[in-house]
Amino acid sequence: MLVWDDHVHALGVAEMDATHFEFTALVNSLAACDDAEFAALFEKLLEHCRLHFTSEGRLMRISRFPALNEHEGEHHRIYGDLVQMNRAVQRGRLMLPRAFVKQGLEEWFTLHLASMDAALAAHLKRVGEARVDMSGGLPVLM
Ligand SMILES: [Fe+2]
Ligand SMILES: [Fe+2]
Repeated sequence: MLVWDDHVHALGVAEMDATHFEFTALVNSLAACDDAEFAALFEKLLEHCRLHFTSEGRLMRISRFPALNEHEGEHHRIYGDLVQMNRAVQRGRLMLPRAFVKQGLEEWFTLHLASMDAALAAHLKRVGEARVDMSGGLPVLM
């Protein structure tokens, strides 16, 4: 089970933290739901991931994040896996997707958050601070 823990999961960038909180909540709902609810929730997870990865892609571009290709490559890989799983789910084949949600996806998230997302958050904070130094204003990324 993926229990949200500020000390482990919060990266200090509000937009990313809100998205990651939503991700953990969705994964937990999927892990706990019955078969009748699974397909609709899985579609929700897919849509969440599309927005999640688009949002991080935007943050990477506006801040000129150096590891953009590597990070987006990883997003595309896991999204491709989810799209494939969703085909099985929509045909009522839930065994593999259920196992994936409980193990693969949790493991992927924990590792991805601690590596690529943490690097992006650290970069965003550095860029934000640099802008504050220059303008004396609020740390807003434009
Ligand atoms: Fe993320
Ligand atoms: Fe990411």
